[in-house]
Amino acid sequence: MSAVIKEEIQIRPMREEDLEFVLDVEGRAYEYPWSDTIFQDCLHVGYCCWVLERDGKIVAHGVMSVAAGESHILNICVDPDYQSIGLGRMLLSHLLDLALEHDVNMTFLEVRPTNFSAIKLYLDMGFDEIGSRRNYYPAKMGREDALIFAKTTLREEDFNE
Ligand SMILES: CC(C)(COP(=O)(O)OP(=O)(O)OC[C@H]1O[C@@H](n2cnc3c(N)ncnc32)[C@H](O)[C@@H]1OP(=O)(O)O)[C@@H](O)C(=O)NCCC(=O)NCCS
Repeated sequence: MSAVIKEEIQIRPMREEDLEFVLDVEGRAYEYPWSDTIFQDCLHVGYCCWVLERDGKIVAHGVMSVAAGESHILNICVDPDYQSIGLGRMLLSHLLDLALEHDVNMTFLEVRPTNFSAIKLYLDMGFDEIGSRRNYYPAKMGREDALIFAKTTLREEDFNE
């Protein structure tokens, strides 16, 4: 007899008590992770802060700001132990759906030019590279530029008006 093991994925709003686990993922996924204070600030100003749980364990998080018809994905991060199995794509789709619900026209994000897997994901999800910001990120040898990506988030019917 064979048993079918079905993993359970849940994407839900981040809570302050999640930060211990979010910071653990963040610290292992990034060379320059966000601090507890940055996450606290994002929660307090009302940014869209979400976690993705796999079988009850927080394994990814995303933070997005929404204002004046634009959204900005400020952080999307998957636990290194759970990367490349589709969770980043799932969380990004969720954030883009939320942007649509907020009537956002355009979604922006920044990424390091050396972050090839993230760039591949963004291109695949319909983002286009629209520019760069000089010396945006801290890096071992001083600073690193950021590439700016953008995606139109208008509904199809908005084009027909
Ligand atoms: C970037 C990141 C969010 C992607 O999430 P993920 O769960 O690993 O990615 P997914 O499994 O959903 O894969 C989605 C797509 O990303 C790309 N991708 C993911 N892992 C990749 C890898 N190791 N090499 C190349 N492309 C990769 C592929 O295009 C993939 O699509 P495919 O599976 O159809 O080929 C994740 O790797 C991460 O958290 N990295 C560290 C933090 C970070 O850099 N965040 C982004 C900051 S801008």
